[in-house]
Amino acid sequence: MGDSVTFDARTAMATYRTAFENGCSQFLTRYPETELYAPVRYLMGLGGKRLRPVLVMAACEASGGRPQDALPAALAVELFHNFTLMHDDIMDDAPLRRGKPTVHEKWDNNTAILSGDALHVMACEALLDAPDKALPDLLRTYHRTALEVCEGQEQDMAFESRNDVSIDEYMEMIRLKTSVLLAAALDMGGKSGGADADAREALYEFGLHVGLAFQLQDDYLDAFGNPENFGKQVGGDILADKKTFLLIRALEKAHGETAVALDRELGRRSEGKVDRVLHLYRQLGVDAELRDAMAGQVALAEGSLARLKAKNPNALAGSQAALALLHGVAAMVTARLS
Ligand code: IPE
Ligand code: IPE
Ligand code: MG
Ligand code: MG
Ligand code: MG
Repeated sequence: MGDSVTFDARTAMATYRTAFENGCSQFLTRYPETELYAPVRYLMGLGGKRLRPVLVMAACEASGGRPQDALPAALAVELFHNFTLMHDDIMDDAPLRRGKPTVHEKWDNNTAILSGDALHVMACEALLDAPDKALPDLLRTYHRTALEVCEGQEQDMAFESRNDVSIDEYMEMIRLKTSVLLAAALDMGGKSGGADADAREALYEFGLHVGLAFQLQDDYLDAFGNPENFGKQVGGDILADKKTFLLIRALEKAHGETAVALDRELGRRSEGKVDRVLHLYRQLGVDAELRDAMAGQVALAEGSLARLKAKNPNALAGSQAALALLHGVAAMVTARLS
């Protein structure tokens, strides 16, 4: 992660991650060592950044709670995220995840479907450990979010075969497939720590903008990332004609010969497609546009927290580590390489 991320934010990240890993290992011991759970243990064991559970814990501590109060919500959100990845990798025909073969590559599609289903139920079970008073609210947010992610994934797939997707449609699609889960992580963390309605609303809005920046960087890395540290197949979005920010703006900007060249690439997976499309992206300057769009979302995210502070100076006045993390996370997300 980039140099603009403060030492305090990094330290807080590492501390929350360790707390989460311990809670997660403990949680997984509830399930038998049978074939159904082997892909769950495999994917969860590959780690990943653990961004969402870390956000749950930070929002909880920032709201005056203890990180362990947030563990049920943190587990639910991370288990749900991993469930979506197991199915997303089938849908996207992806060979690699976190630098290792995807579940459907290592086993097969049926295994990834069924173990993914189990993982989703495990996420719900994890959430049931939340205190009774908070539970109905947490369940409502969780289920609403889970359905929105499905809606976003449906749009993502439908957009593959359309060439007239607008940036507005794209932003709505990534809000659904990616941002609402980061927003829900912050909101559920706030709820777990006793945040009031204003603080939860600000945390949710903050998460939406961080999430939009996060998915823009995901699109960027899928095209321009370094295979050594990305952990996923570079160029997968280009091969599938995914309507990423890059492709949509390229389709909008291309004229004459460039438009013909881009059009020729769509709808087929010919040899050298990725390199030719990357060349067109650079020629059209859509990589720089993506970075501007991302910076815009970071500014909007910061604005959400600043507005809350102006309205209620005592909101989110919990631990310094939690605050450092919240203020550093946008920089982490936009500077990430994996
Ligand atoms: C990948 O999420 C899925 C997207 C929403 C882009 P992450 O990049 O957070 O994946 P891990 O959990 O760190 O591997
Ligand atoms: C995935 O978006 C979002 C969800 C898994 C819900 P992507 O398809 O871009 O995620 P990656 O790149 O495979 O991680
Ligand atoms: Mg996908
Ligand atoms: Mg994918
Ligand atoms: Mg992606």
